[in-house]
Amino acid sequence: MFNLKNYLHQKQAAINKALDENLNRPSAMSKRIVSAMNHSIMAGGKRLRPILCIAACEIVGGNEENCITTACALEMIHTYSLIHDDLPAMDNDELRRGKPTCHIAFDEATAILAGDALLTLGFQLLSRNSSKLSGAEALQKLDIIHRIAVAAGCEGMIAGQMLDILSEGKKLEIEELKQLHMSKTGALIEASVYAGAVLGNGTASQIANLRDYARNIGLAFQVADDILNIEGDPFFMGKAVGTDNDRHKSTYPSLIGIEASKRFADELIANALKSLEAFHMEAEPLRVIARYIVERKK
Ligand code: IPE
Ligand code: IPE
Ligand code: MG
Ligand code: MG
Repeated sequence: MFNLKNYLHQKQAAINKALDENLNRPSAMSKRIVSAMNHSIMAGGKRLRPILCIAACEIVGGNEENCITTACALEMIHTYSLIHDDLPAMDNDELRRGKPTCHIAFDEATAILAGDALLTLGFQLLSRNSSKLSGAEALQKLDIIHRIAVAAGCEGMIAGQMLDILSEGKKLEIEELKQLHMSKTGALIEASVYAGAVLGNGTASQIANLRDYARNIGLAFQVADDILNIEGDPFFMGKAVGTDNDRHKSTYPSLIGIEASKRFADELIANALKSLEAFHMEAEPLRVIARYIVERKK
């Protein structure tokens, strides 16, 4: 039987090893910036986006080697977004992944630069060795870089983060909140699954089904984050709770209540599982991860 705990451990270990290799290469980089980048990225984290990338790749017949560099890049981009999300001008948080946030452990300027550096290094990794690729491989890589850029930028995560900040103290319409969540969190999750499926040479219909899966779990992931911000245990989660309420953020629980939010997250997971109907046992990791997204405690 598929064991999620073992699966996550095994993938996390492979991702952590690759992150370490890619981050700590001998280079001319400033020691301070490297320490700040390491502080945030090596603090832990579930590694959900890289795991989804690898899982999607494997499900369509690819392997870890095809996508591990892309998976690392996704985690770097995600970690940059957390460092900036925690800054005093954003959510002003002091604890992340069980450690002081980057601007607390270092200082604001270093945290801004560490975020910038992780974002840029992510794209550096994505485009690595491009000149050695064949025409078809290069086109595939360019497409993935483009999709990740769109997902991370002003049409995706940044759009969501801007809406998140602008909506503080306001009551959004539920459709607006859905857009906010799908942009700030869903877009990078969708791009992670897309990249894995493409790198595994999935067919067009496999890729379409996997994207549909990802859109559903991506939204469910942020709904679960909203719920955990109320019900979660800060020691276990490694970050503060109650902060959305303190900052008058628009969240699913604040708009529709906690029980309706849980039902909505469950519905999204049911939709995600439907998108996997065309797959057999090979999609078991993605099915179990979908359930984990709403049942997780951190
Ligand atoms: C937290 O992401 C921020 C959101 C987008 C909700 P994760 O819950 O994946 O954080 P880590 O990577 O495990 O620390
Ligand atoms: C974080 O959203 C989203 C991004 C970093 C893009 P939140 O601000 O809701 O997440 P946490 O609760 O700080 O992890
Ligand atoms: Mg935020
Ligand atoms: Mg935050």
